[in-house]
Amino acid sequence: MINVDQLQPYSEKVIVKPSDNIFYELGNNTYDFKDLISELIDNSIAAKLPDLRLNVNIEFWVDDRNNCTMILIKDNAFGISQDKLGLALSPAAIQSANSLNEHGLGMKQAIAGLGKLKYLATKTTTDSQARVVRELRYGELECYCCDFNNISGTEICIENIKPIVNVNPQSITMTLVPYLGARYRRFLRPANRLAEINLFSRNTKTGDVLYSWDIIEIKPYYFHPSNRTNKPVIENRRISGPGWKAELTFGYAPTENELKDLGINPLPHYHPYAVSLSKQGLDVLLYDRVVLFHQLSELGIVNVRHNDYNLVRGEINLLEGFTTAITKNSIIMDDHFIHCINKVKDILQGQGGDEEKGYLRLKRYPAEIPERLLRDRLKNWLENNPVSKKNDVKTEYTIEGLAGSIDVLADGEAWEIKRDQADGLDVYQLFAYMDMGNINKGFLLASSHTTGAAAARDFIMEKHQKEIILAKRKDFPINNTPSEDERREYY
Ligand SMILES: Nc1ncnc2c1ncn2[C@@H]1O[C@H](COP(=O)(O)OP(=O)(O)O)[C@@H](O)[C@H]1O
Ligand SMILES: [Mg+2]
Repeated sequence: MINVDQLQPYSEKVIVKPSDNIFYELGNNTYDFKDLISELIDNSIAAKLPDLRLNVNIEFWVDDRNNCTMILIKDNAFGISQDKLGLALSPAAIQSANSLNEHGLGMKQAIAGLGKLKYLATKTTTDSQARVVRELRYGELECYCCDFNNISGTEICIENIKPIVNVNPQSITMTLVPYLGARYRRFLRPANRLAEINLFSRNTKTGDVLYSWDIIEIKPYYFHPSNRTNKPVIENRRISGPGWKAELTFGYAPTENELKDLGINPLPHYHPYAVSLSKQGLDVLLYDRVVLFHQLSELGIVNVRHNDYNLVRGEINLLEGFTTAITKNSIIMDDHFIHCINKVKDILQGQGGDEEKGYLRLKRYPAEIPERLLRDRLKNWLENNPVSKKNDVKTEYTIEGLAGSIDVLADGEAWEIKRDQADGLDVYQLFAYMDMGNINKGFLLASSHTTGAAAARDFIMEKHQKEIILAKRKDFPINNTPSEDERREYY
């Protein structure tokens, strides 16, 4: 290795000059069409005036063959002031913390990814006219001025459109519009709408509007397994570690029938949260917009995508301590992000302390099967199992005089079911039925039994010669996840 402390000075200098090629090369990034458009919308949102609803209009000018000739994106945000414009145009000249902007590259990546800058016009509230530049390069740029029809804002016009731009109306409807609605959902909530984003396609020759789209809020639907509402199972749970903070939301998407129960129309296949293999997983949000969709195997939460996880939905909302890569469609795998994902994994896989739910593995709360369903499954098993098949099995067998009924009476033996833990009083309730119903053997089927239950059983045996067996739910084949039909019937 060369010892740099002992180097001799050389007579030459090495000059490193900025190259304008960078403005072109920044377009060769991993963004897709909607990511490129999103970079520009991000900028408008980051520059939103606090008291004014943000308006972003995006126009795709098309020729007769529906090829895009020009893209115009226009906002009514605070504009770029004269002293900041040069920096805003210079790659990586502005680094922003806690903002939808970060590396100082986005706008330049988006413009070069979509085509070539025709002009950028911008006006702040204190300017009387808009300032316009017509090229992107290093050095002194010619500046123009013109009237602007907003008090402040920015308008970017891009020409020489690249093939990545797909303005086929059907593709806009099925891809761009729903994903922008999902990405910016937190700014589009009807109750507190912070931004209005509108897309248009226009005829290049006549200027006529051919199609228009209003971006509306798109969010995941959930189906809570126990209360059957459009709610996640875990909602905004704070998770944190040294130097980072995040929030986890987790739940299950409704199946087709469950959607019906919720009064929601079936989702078209292109809906970002329609149930399918490619749409399973959690969205990752940063600064209130989705930067990554449908993450599960990608984050190593499961090994591979599998149809078993198609209902998995949720959000990892990154609040503090995270950085995107220079294209904001990935998060830097630093200690913070790795730690965060591991915490999410622990919660969802059911490791770590009392989080014994195994949300991913079981897909449902294990204890949420209704007693009525357990009872009917038990009846079915008692009638059909090959080992000790019962001939006469009744459910809800009423004990005269007690105004109550035994869950199952099978060949003269009583079965009581408790979904959760059973205690001594549950044993005595069963005993009451057995005593008044003249039954000598009973089973108390429960997830587990307290020591009080065992004491009550022994006491009853000794005092009244009635046999009660404390049976565990897990020993009977009645605990599987409810089927579609069962869910309709029992919930
Ligand atoms: N529509 C806009 N309104 C106001 N300021 C903007 C707009 N677009 C870009 N800027 C300014 O340009 C800077 C650089 O933006 P950008 O190239 O998108 O970088 P970044 O990678 O940080 O998002 C921003 O920090 C912001 O100050
Ligand atoms: Mg930006």
